[in-house]
Amino acid sequence: MKNKILRLVKYLFFKSPLNKYFLPVMKFDMSIAQLNFILNTLDEIKMDGAVVEIGVGGGATSIVINKFIEKMSSKRRFYAIDTFFGFTKEDILYEQNNRGKIDNYLYYRSNSKEWYSKTLIAHGINDATVYKSDAKEFDYSVIGEIAFCLFDVDLFMPTAAVLPILYELLVPGGVIIVDDCQAESSIYDGAGEAYRLFCSKKGFKEEIVFDKLGIIRKPLF
Ligand SMILES: C[S@@+](CC[C@H](N)C(=O)[O-])C[C@H]1O[C@@H](n2cnc3c(N)ncnc32)[C@H](O)[C@@H]1O
Repeated sequence: MKNKILRLVKYLFFKSPLNKYFLPVMKFDMSIAQLNFILNTLDEIKMDGAVVEIGVGGGATSIVINKFIEKMSSKRRFYAIDTFFGFTKEDILYEQNNRGKIDNYLYYRSNSKEWYSKTLIAHGINDATVYKSDAKEFDYSVIGEIAFCLFDVDLFMPTAAVLPILYELLVPGGVIIVDDCQAESSIYDGAGEAYRLFCSKKGFKEEIVFDKLGIIRKPLF
């Protein structure tokens, strides 16, 4: 009986022209290959430390990372940081005035800390620590040692300002992955410029994976 009702509800649902708005479509900013790389990288880190995602959007990648952490033998705390209202005025002005960008950067404004948290909870993730903050203004000492960070805020200013702080908190053997480091010019090439600048200042060899992810590894010794 229960199955028959379920089938009837599903039948009506798929008949409705509105169903495309409710279908469980997985929307990712990352490709499956990139997600796989992120999880493998996280898996290889042996030292203790937190997992941090800066620039989380609606939470698609956060869910994948958290579901992976659940299955790991050593438990890690997960921290999420985002304005939950897209790019800051200051960061946008820098792109426009100093990097010649003509976009208005009014994206990612339809998110909220509450909706992000509820999305995680709907996936059974109840122990994430979520901060609504400009990444440049956040006090990273509250997190302590970081084992892995996915840094995905797209623009130059926040990436350049926060990378040195993250690197200081990174444990030996830890990894930071900076998204949007592709060589091609785009409205989001600021993150890549900040990544390259950081590598050159530190004397690190650039490591770009899948033409997009900029990797920073802290040596063990
Ligand atoms: C590309 S989305 C992140 C996508 C997410 N990592 C994923 O894979 O699903 C970029 C995010 O960075 C956030 N962001 C942009 N500038 C920021 C800043 N200065 N501080 C904190 N978050 C910022 C935006 O609100 C947006 O949610």
